[in-house]
Amino acid sequence: MQRYLVGGAVRDQLLNIEVYDKDWVVVGSTPEELLQNGFIAVGKDFPVFLHPDSKEEHALARTERKIGSGYTGFDCYFAADVTLEEDLLRRDLTINAMAQAPNGEIVDPFNGQQDLKDRVLRHVSAAFTEDPLRVLRVARFAAKLNHLGFTVADDTLALMRQIARSGELEHLTAERVWQEWHKSLSTQDPQVFISVLKDCDALHIVLPELDALFGVPQPEKWHPEIDTGIHTLMVAKQAALLSESLPVRFASQVHDLGKGITPQSEWPSHKMHCHTGLKLIQSLCSRVKVPNEFRDLALLVCEQHSNIHRAAELKPETKLKVLNKFDVWRKPERLKDILTCCMADSRGRTDFETIDYPQKDIFELAYQAALAVNVQDIINDGFKGAEIKAELERQRVSAIAKSKLKT
Ligand code: CTP
Repeated sequence: MQRYLVGGAVRDQLLNIEVYDKDWVVVGSTPEELLQNGFIAVGKDFPVFLHPDSKEEHALARTERKIGSGYTGFDCYFAADVTLEEDLLRRDLTINAMAQAPNGEIVDPFNGQQDLKDRVLRHVSAAFTEDPLRVLRVARFAAKLNHLGFTVADDTLALMRQIARSGELEHLTAERVWQEWHKSLSTQDPQVFISVLKDCDALHIVLPELDALFGVPQPEKWHPEIDTGIHTLMVAKQAALLSESLPVRFASQVHDLGKGITPQSEWPSHKMHCHTGLKLIQSLCSRVKVPNEFRDLALLVCEQHSNIHRAAELKPETKLKVLNKFDVWRKPERLKDILTCCMADSRGRTDFETIDYPQKDIFELAYQAALAVNVQDIINDGFKGAEIKAELERQRVSAIAKSKLKT
């Protein structure tokens, strides 16, 4: 039996990117032989084994044939006579269809190395269309490799469009959609995940709430980019520049969903969007099974971002109300996250990309001032029961009123 390093590990190594996961393919062997050699069987649908020492995944070389709908509808054939080339042929992109032998030699039957040089994401064969998950994977790889100059080949984009038109994307499970979206959030260019899905006509199927933002105008004075979809892509990029937090990046992407359902008669104004967006975020998050931590931050940012943008005009009472909404007293880390999303929103506009965001300092100062009010002092002063809370609020408002930015 021979084993080869395959897939992402070979790709990332050739790109000088850190390799997290090593996958191996085993040629000329059988499940029985691997088990005899101490490998541990883990595959449910196809034969995957863990190496007895490294615990890295080893799969027997296999071919696949589409037999049903969705990304699970495959019949897979594995036997000692399946060649390495046959296994590489069933893979999605040429840059993912290379193998490395133990002596370091690269096996590259589909010119993956050339495509790495040319910075192209290109499908291996027409069988690409058999797996709808690949539409999301390519969008995610485009996001991951965008900073190196990679783009999707026109032919591949055409196949992605074909998949979108076929109705197969509707078979993708929520878990798969979230898995790819979530992975895209940790790249340098999460906005590319959305824009590639848009380009191949998949966005309206997979994430219709985001798709609805494209073509919706905003006031040119504040949004020279005008289109809300373009603005959302810009905000997504700014959030990735400002924060490593994936919930922050997610919340920034969905904070304006309400603008997608503003009646056209009200365009380019979107007075109600902070309110109308809440329901859309709720339904999107429950459909795609977005974790609560992401959803809760997104709801707060959606509801409060306009208030935060107006920080300089807000009365101390309103500032305290906003802080109470955020539950900052129990979740202090939230304030920074929400303010970062708002800053990304402010910078995610044409010609505003490097603008200062004093609203952040105003709210941080208000929070620090309110936090300094000591409940124990209030109790010591003789306040009892509900009076304590009322006095705490009163003193916090007064502390916020006194908090001023040094100019
Ligand atoms: N693969 C594929 N089609 C899929 C899923 C996986 O062709 N729908 C192949 C690709 O060759 C891929 C390999 O299986 O490189 C391993 O898949 P995975 O671990 O999901 O992705 P990686 O390419 O390793 O990338 P990353 O670890 O960055 O997600």
